[in-house]
Amino acid sequence: MKREIPEVARELAGKDKVRILFVCLGNICRSPAAEGVMQAVVDNNRANKRFKLDSAGLYGGHAGELPDRRMRVHAFQRGYNLTHHSRPVRMSDYDNFDLIVAMDHSNYDRLRTMAPTLEDERKVVRMIDFVKGFPQCDCVPDPYYDGAEGFELVLDLLEDGCVNLFDILSVKQ
Ligand code: 4NP
Repeated sequence: MKREIPEVARELAGKDKVRILFVCLGNICRSPAAEGVMQAVVDNNRANKRFKLDSAGLYGGHAGELPDRRMRVHAFQRGYNLTHHSRPVRMSDYDNFDLIVAMDHSNYDRLRTMAPTLEDERKVVRMIDFVKGFPQCDCVPDPYYDGAEGFELVLDLLEDGCVNLFDILSVKQ
């Protein structure tokens, strides 16, 4: 699969406020990590006022939980403190966010299908499209049933993708 920066992301570069929702299945591994990594990029660039970040899951079975302990430990080793509590995706998210960033193809397809309008459907993009390295990956893979290397790969992909996403949203290209 060829990666392509979605036009909707470039269009946000001129906006005063950018609201991003990161989405995976359980909202306990990949998407809270994406939120935490992106928050660090935003903080490092002193861009806090411009960005609103959140994350959510398509499966509500972990609602209320902190991220998976393995994800928290691997993230903490890189300096990220993940404190988000899992919540399911809501229909109001399509109104309340400018960009809805899916971790894998299944998340992407479901979020697109659920979108109430075509404009909302355009807001749904894939995280992997912002990743510059890791040509062997075609999504941010679910680490839930993997060992440590799965969690490390998720963080590697997110660190690469979030820096690029921030740059695209910040520079009118
Ligand atoms: P996530 O990982 O989508 O990255 O949060 C998962 C967490 C839980 C489950 C699946 C994936 N689960 O089936 O419970």
